[in-house]
Amino acid sequence: MHKKIGFIGAGNMGTALMSGARKAFDADRFIFFDRNTDKRERISGQLGIRAADDAVEVARESGILFLMVKPQNYAEVIDQIKGELQEDHIVISVAPGVTGGWIRRQAGVNVRVVRVMPNTPSLIGAGMTGLAYEEGALSDEESDVIMQIFGSCGKVRRVDESLMDAVICASGSSPAFYYLFIDAIAKRCEELGMTREDAVFFAAQTAVGSGKMVLESDEAPAVLAERVCSKGGTTIEGVRSLQADELDSIVARAIDATYKRAVEMRKE
Ligand SMILES: NC(=O)c1ccc[n+]([C@@H]2O[C@H](COP(=O)([O-])OP(=O)(O)OC[C@H]3O[C@@H](n4cnc5c(N)ncnc54)[C@H](OP(=O)(O)O)[C@@H]3O)[C@@H](O)[C@H]2O)c1
Repeated sequence: MHKKIGFIGAGNMGTALMSGARKAFDADRFIFFDRNTDKRERISGQLGIRAADDAVEVARESGILFLMVKPQNYAEVIDQIKGELQEDHIVISVAPGVTGGWIRRQAGVNVRVVRVMPNTPSLIGAGMTGLAYEEGALSDEESDVIMQIFGSCGKVRRVDESLMDAVICASGSSPAFYYLFIDAIAKRCEELGMTREDAVFFAAQTAVGSGKMVLESDEAPAVLAERVCSKGGTTIEGVRSLQADELDSIVARAIDATYKRAVEMRKE
């Protein structure tokens, strides 16, 4: 695989991926374009990656092409580059709902498409990425390169394409839910006398530790929760209060609303 790895769009996610990918591959493997000159200059300077003059140049030079623009910009970008797209291109789609079929129709070429759902903790190397492609679509070398790039920003797992909207709920959007939970704990503990800074720090570090416990333990999350609850102790009182307020239903409704929007955004 000699062609370059190209990125179109160098915003939050594009920059995070390029920064991670630079740890795994030499700078000359990459080329990128963003329509903002200041971003091109800054990122080129920071990462040592060559900025192209336009998206067409990126498409021409790349074998693997990351489309790192917002969903509403996908049509215009594909329109710009479709003259360069060939059947052996691999297009990486990070936009919710943008399917391989839609990209192929827009491009008028039977490109290979990998659908990906990263999340914002990828910005600090602690991301979770779900990724889907058709069986046999990629060579081992191609899938290794793609896994390595997302792996350089956190954890990555392949799922069936039909599950991509569920992945949006599980990891794409859910960082916001955890932030709100941390914020809610911190707000109340601040009212109990902690400083804001301490309250956020204690709550956030506990979220990190609790997540690691779940990942590293053989026990189910609900069993771990039970283990924190000693009879007659403090935690069980809080857990009972959450159960009485139907935490499961509150979260289920949030997941359903997220899923519903993901379905509405499908471009098939
Ligand atoms: N951020 C997340 O948490 C997250 C999580 C999962 C997936 N995603 C997906 O990742 C994609 C990128 O998100 P983001 O947060 O990185 O967006 P972003 O910060 O807005 O970055 C997109 C960049 O692409 C540029 N751009 C737009 N159209 C272009 C074009 N035709 N040619 C060249 N550059 C163009 C934008 O320029 P302008 O600013 O001028 O428009 C911007 O600099 C989206 O599809 C999003 O759904 C994001």
